[in-house]
Amino acid sequence: MNDVLSDTADAFLDAANPEPSELLQEMTEYGRSEDFPIVGPDVGHLLGVVATLAGAERVFEFGSGYGYSGAWFRTVLPADGELVLTDYDEGNLETAREFLGRQDEDATVRYEAGDAMELFERYDGPFDVVLLDHGKTEYVDAFEDARGKLADGGVVVADNMMAGPVEPADVTAALQGDEPVDDHTEGVADYIEHVRGDPDFETAFVPLGEGVAISVKR
Ligand SMILES: C[S@@+](CC[C@H](N)C(=O)[O-])C[C@H]1O[C@@H](n2cnc3c(N)ncnc32)[C@H](O)[C@@H]1O
Repeated sequence: MNDVLSDTADAFLDAANPEPSELLQEMTEYGRSEDFPIVGPDVGHLLGVVATLAGAERVFEFGSGYGYSGAWFRTVLPADGELVLTDYDEGNLETAREFLGRQDEDATVRYEAGDAMELFERYDGPFDVVLLDHGKTEYVDAFEDARGKLADGGVVVADNMMAGPVEPADVTAALQGDEPVDDHTEGVADYIEHVRGDPDFETAFVPLGEGVAISVKR
């Protein structure tokens, strides 16, 4: 599931990546059949790597859908770890509860219905990884909220830097000074400009899935 790379690179990733668990494969198929905008398996593997590198014990997601990205995080969290899923849609979270209830992993999952920005305020830090996958116009504010509750060496991962509700060429043009074509593009371009100049973070853009920004707190 790669919307950015060539078919050749996509085929390579399919061949090279370790095979996901049966449950994760089922969740991938569910997303495809429902046309639900999940991060996909390539980014799922990456989230596991990022969380492992960060020694993650606590993860917060802004925008969890039916728990797909969360399920990938949980595979690498310790048994006493904590994963907070948020979504406007209670039905999505109910589906997440069903899927994650079938995982072998023990890390605690909190299913929080409502506005992720408000829900985040109710939690004390520190979090080791924060995933931004909600409204693109809210990414900069969410990053600033996350900053204060991020552990040293903690990571903010933001999805949809290149695709999904945006087009890579549109984001590129906005970054080069053109008027953004829509609010999503403006939100993503603003986010990129915001994080890449932040002296407290080291940021890389990775063209897997729909393109992610990985920002590590120094
Ligand atoms: C792209 S999907 C999340 C996919 C998920 N991260 C995954 O890869 O499995 C975005 C989700 O965020 C939810 N959402 C959007 N804005 C939100 C907000 N401000 N607060 C809570 N949920 C939000 C939507 O209902 C939708 O289910």
